[in-house]
Amino acid sequence: MMGAMTPGADDGPLVLGIETSCDETGVGIVRGHTLLADAVASSVEEHARFGGVVPEVASRAHLEAMVPTLERAAQTAGIRLQDLDAVAVTSGPGLVGALLVGVAAAKALAIGLGKPLYGVNHLAAHVAVDQLEHGALPEPCLAMLVSGGHSSLLRVDDVTVGVEPLGATIDDAAGEAFDKVARLLGLPFPGGPHIDRAARDGDAAYLDFPRGLTSRRDLARHRFDFSFSGLKTAVARWVEARERAGEPVPVADVAAAFQEAVCDVLTRKAVDAAVTHGIDHLLIGGGVAANSRLRSMAESRAADAGIRVRVPRPGLCTDNGAMVAALGAELVARGRAPSSLDLAADSSQPVTQVVA
Ligand code: KG4
Ligand code: ZN
Repeated sequence: MMGAMTPGADDGPLVLGIETSCDETGVGIVRGHTLLADAVASSVEEHARFGGVVPEVASRAHLEAMVPTLERAAQTAGIRLQDLDAVAVTSGPGLVGALLVGVAAAKALAIGLGKPLYGVNHLAAHVAVDQLEHGALPEPCLAMLVSGGHSSLLRVDDVTVGVEPLGATIDDAAGEAFDKVARLLGLPFPGGPHIDRAARDGDAAYLDFPRGLTSRRDLARHRFDFSFSGLKTAVARWVEARERAGEPVPVADVAAAFQEAVCDVLTRKAVDAAVTHGIDHLLIGGGVAANSRLRSMAESRAADAGIRVRVPRPGLCTDNGAMVAALGAELVARGRAPSSLDLAADSSQPVTQVVA
């Protein structure tokens, strides 16, 4: 996949990024804000029958996919690896066995080529990737990251220095809720895209599902936090009662009502956080950012509050190597110090730590 600009038009740093924190083996190459290659191999099919990502299966798939994916990225970008300015890799957070594969590969490349190595934070990379599509990040910006593994609201003043967490899920991630509810409705894994599609034919007002952490009492302590496990349980109870009564489950309507509840809470809290912090740009990333209802609701609610929304295209929202390369290029451009070569994978790397 080529970037919008011709490779010569950007004189930013040439960086290769490796992502292996979950089930996608991603290798991306960027020059500054220009995307040169974005090769991704996913093991999602291998996890489908388990209804969720199996760590051992993911690690093994990364091992098998790493070299071919690297070769594909280098070939697409049409660059010589010796010309790289740096190698970047997700050092955390994520599945430790999966992270280790990427970190080992990145170290081998950095040492072999004699290039600086940046172990970067996966969440900060989800933020930085938008530069490949919409140019330099507005500073500050409010980022909402929603995926199978995380749901957070972050204040980003300078993505290379630190990201301030304002709130996060206290139980399930938003994507996890989509995946679990899809399973209840008999839809395949990963469930998000299937719920999105089914909901188009459904009535979002068919049922009024609970909006987690939005009561006055909850807002006092958890204003910018999320909770989706109560919603998932409410859907499960409703579906079970229906099945016990021998009545059919209206899949499209339940999908639409569930999706409405998730998007309502996400967009309400994101806009509230932006307004409270006086920030007029909202960036949405992570796999759930592909959701059509989330995009339209965020656009209209943000517009009402005078806030501009930036969402990278779906392929850049889900996990990929280009996001890691994009953050790496920004770190090099801003003269940030690289990681040491004995860099460790850190499954719970805090979001405040951009470089390990
Ligand atoms: O960012 P991602 O590829 O991987 C991580 O979890 O880090 O996100 C995957 C998640 C899955 O839970 C999937 O169901 C969800 O993103 N997802 C969606 C949509 N497309 C993917 N959720 C809602 N609507 C979608 N269109
Ligand atoms: Zn992710």
